[in-house]
Formats: sequence, C-alpha cells, structure tokens
Amino acid sequence: MADGSDWLADNVAGIAVSAIKEMAMRAASLEDVASLTWGLPSFQTPAYIRTAVKDLLDRDPQSGMYSLPDGLPSLCRAVAAGHEAATGIGVNPDRNVVITAGNMQGLNALFHTLLNPGDEIIVTEPGFASHFQQIRLCRGVPVFWPLDAAEGWRLAPEALPGLITPRTKAIVLVSPSNPTGKIFTETELRRVGEIARQHGVKILLDDPYSQFCYENRDRYFNLASVPELADTLIYLFTFSKAYAMTGWRIGYMILPEAMKKEVLKVHDATLICAPRVSQLAAEAALTGEPVHLKTFETILARRRELICARLDRLPHVFAYRKPEGAYYIFPRIVADHGNAHDFCIDVLEKAHVTLTPGAAFGPSGEHHLRMAYCVADEVIDSAFDRLEKLFGV
Ligand SMILES: Cc1ncc(COP(=O)(O)O)c(C=O)c1O
Repeated sequence: MADGSDWLADNVAGIAVSAIKEMAMRAASLEDVASLTWGLPSFQTPAYIRTAVKDLLDRDPQSGMYSLPDGLPSLCRAVAAGHEAATGIGVNPDRNVVITAGNMQGLNALFHTLLNPGDEIIVTEPGFASHFQQIRLCRGVPVFWPLDAAEGWRLAPEALPGLITPRTKAIVLVSPSNPTGKIFTETELRRVGEIARQHGVKILLDDPYSQFCYENRDRYFNLASVPELADTLIYLFTFSKAYAMTGWRIGYMILPEAMKKEVLKVHDATLICAPRVSQLAAEAALTGEPVHLKTFETILARRRELICARLDRLPHVFAYRKPEGAYYIFPRIVADHGNAHDFCIDVLEKAHVTLTPGAAFGPSGEHHLRMAYCVADEVIDSAFDRLEKLFGV
C-alpha cells in the first residue's frame, strides 16, 4: 500500500472502532461530561457474588488456574439446570454447554466456526454494531434485515426469506433489543425459527437483556424454549448486565453437540478458557438467590420514566417511543441537523453530553440517537439540563 500500511489486514482496515467507544474516547479528553453513550449499568456486582468469590479465592487453591476449555463442570451443571428451569429444555452439561468470556467472545467463536470468506450472517438493523464488525473481521458479510420503523421497530419475518441465499449461515437475534428496546413477539420469533429451520440456517440468540422487561414481562418469549429448534438455535447468555458483571467477562452458550465440538477448537485456540475466577463468580450468581434482579429492574424502570419525562420537554429536538425492555432509548432527531454523527459531536462539544449516533447501528438508525438510561439518575438529569440549555425548552 502506498500509505505504508501494508502490514494491515484488509478486514481490520475495513472496520472502525464502534461509535460508542469513539464517543467515549472523545469525551475522555473533555472535562465534566454527562455520558449517555455506554450501556454500562451503574450497579455494583451483587454482594452475594462478591462474598462467594472472596471466600473461594482464599479457600480454593485452584481458583487462579485454567479450567477445562468448556468451563468448570460444576458451573456447566448449574448452567444446564438454570437453562432447563427457564426454558423447559433439558441440555447436557458436557455436550451442550460452553462457558464463554461474555457474549462477544461467544459470538466471535461462533462466527469463526461458521464463516468462510464471503458467507453471510443476517442481522436485524438497527442492531448491535459490534455484531457487524465481528462478522466482517471473520471475513463474512453482515446482511441487514431492517426492523419496521413505522411499527415501532417491529421484527419483520415476512422480509426474511428474501434475504436468505445459499451463502447464509445464520441469523442473529437480540430481544429485548439494542438499541431500540423492542421486545419481539412470540409469533414473530416462532416464524423466524420456522424459516431458519426450513432453510438450514442457524439462529444465534444473543441475550444480555431478558431480565429487563418491566411491565412487558409477559410479552417476552425465549425462542430457546422451542424444542424443534434444538439443532438450529444457539443461545448465548451473559452475566454482564443482569448481574452487573460487565468487567468479569463471563457468559455461556447452549449449542448442539456437533457444533460444540467445532466451536471448542476456536475457543481453546484463542482463549483456552473463560477466566476461572469469573467462572466462580458465575456459579455463585446461578446458585445464589438473585435478589438483586427485582431491585435492578425497579431502578431501571424509574430511570426509563425519568428519561421519557425529560425527552417530553424537548419535543422540538427529539421524537421517541417508550422502549419496552433493555435500557436504551432510540429517539429520532427532529431538530435541524445534517446527520446523527455531526449532531452528536456538536452536542458533545457545546454541551458536554455524549450520545451515540444512530447510524452506527445500521442505515435505518441515521437521524436517530441512542441514549443509555442505565446510568445514575443524576447523570440523566445533568445531561438533560445541558441539552435544555443548548436547545431551549
Ligand atoms: C446485544 C449485545 N450483545 C452483547 C453485548 C456484550 O456482552 P458481553 O459483555 O457479554 O460481551 C452487548 C453489550 O452492550 C449487547 O448490547
């Protein structure tokens, strides 16, 4: 390459650091910024998990060692039991469970396992930008499946068959979804399951947010509870959000036995195993009483009301729908602007508030913003006080 970057692989050159991190890094060079950009809950890892780990670090001489690649057997058993309790589907801890270093690592191992160069993965959009980047890094092609904006970002199964080609390997689903907060309905999800099965395409169900459904709990449907999808669906759960364990880097996946054998090759070659100390924490999380969950959900529900109330005071700037789950809101910019990215830079520079430009989540996200309301109430209030000052009330 003429610019001297011939050491750089094309697939890496072809992607960018996510807009979320870009905004966070830009903000780091400024003083006193109110950040709504990063989906990092303000909560501390619950005490019953911290206490169990402290104790095990002293008592268990192996706590600092590698585990088997697929994870500690006792944790795999706890995962299998928890999965059966949640979905009614029995899985074998040895044959169907892999403990991951969070869903990003689990997905990365899956994309490596599934993709030949040029193979396709269907992703809903707006959707989680890191999915798109990971697919590209694995030399695959993310194929955008637009959510139906006119119907509040509804999943549109009727559009799915038209996107499937001989190169399609999988479909990624997230519900409640990031960045829209949409909970996909049981009917929609079952239809996607049928289509995937008919076409021999896998479903990768990335689940960080199912504990946060607020008054819509009854509408949440876990597609992993459909027995007919046992060979089609890979379920990935992360402790990051529901257990406030983002920094522990821990999750798990439930997958068909034949796939586990292949995925383990990637997992072992790239990670060896999930951090053992985090596996101990995950086991404590699953075997203890998750009393914190109700509290987290109550606090997040209050913050959702707060951010909606604050948005209501700026109808000349933002139009929004109340999110159903997760902890993001995805307003449309109605104020005069060029594009969402420039709007966010402008707001950061003039008001010291970080927001994430919606285009980072796919083409339908242009002219939208993502705001994460998992941060402290004071941060939400401070961000909106500044926005009100900038735009007038
Ligand atoms: C849809 C989605 N998947 C995965 C992750 C990251 O999960 P983990 O921390 O387990 O890697 C996030 C975090 O924001 C997310 O929104």
